[in-house]
Amino acid sequence: MSSAHDDGLMTGRGISRRCLLAVGAVGIPGMALAACSQASPEEPAGGSGTSAGAGSSAGAGSSAGGGKPLAKLSDIKVGEAISATGPDGGDIIIVRPTETTVTAFSAICTHEGCTVQPAGQELDCPCHGSVFDLKGAVLNGPATRPLRTVAVKVSGENVVAG
Ligand code: FES
Repeated sequence: MSSAHDDGLMTGRGISRRCLLAVGAVGIPGMALAACSQASPEEPAGGSGTSAGAGSSAGAGSSAGGGKPLAKLSDIKVGEAISATGPDGGDIIIVRPTETTVTAFSAICTHEGCTVQPAGQELDCPCHGSVFDLKGAVLNGPATRPLRTVAVKVSGENVVAG
């Protein structure tokens, strides 16, 4: 959705402006770049450009607080799941196990990152055939890890982050 903030910090070579400034200050490019390489995975947001555009929370407003409707509760049958867009803009699966409760998972398959789809009482990955149950657990590989949980709750007639 919005990757402008990410791009603003990075050059065409994938080196952050902060790192380039560090090179100038230190005067030893090899040392500064090594330090930048080590620091990149630890940057909390905007540091990785490989999150399919969903990782940036800069333009998401107050969605982390739980107010933004992700789905209408009435659109999810009890005991089933739907695909939706999560609070961070990524694909999620919302499950309604009971009349008044919901759970959600990232729709990104833990095998190689394809988008899983609801299929009755299961979540199917179209790429290599992994199957997950409605609690996100693996029923069939090649995936071996459960889907990542996304915090959601019922708020009135909507499902919201939380
Ligand atoms: Fe889902 Fe391979 S990416 S099974």
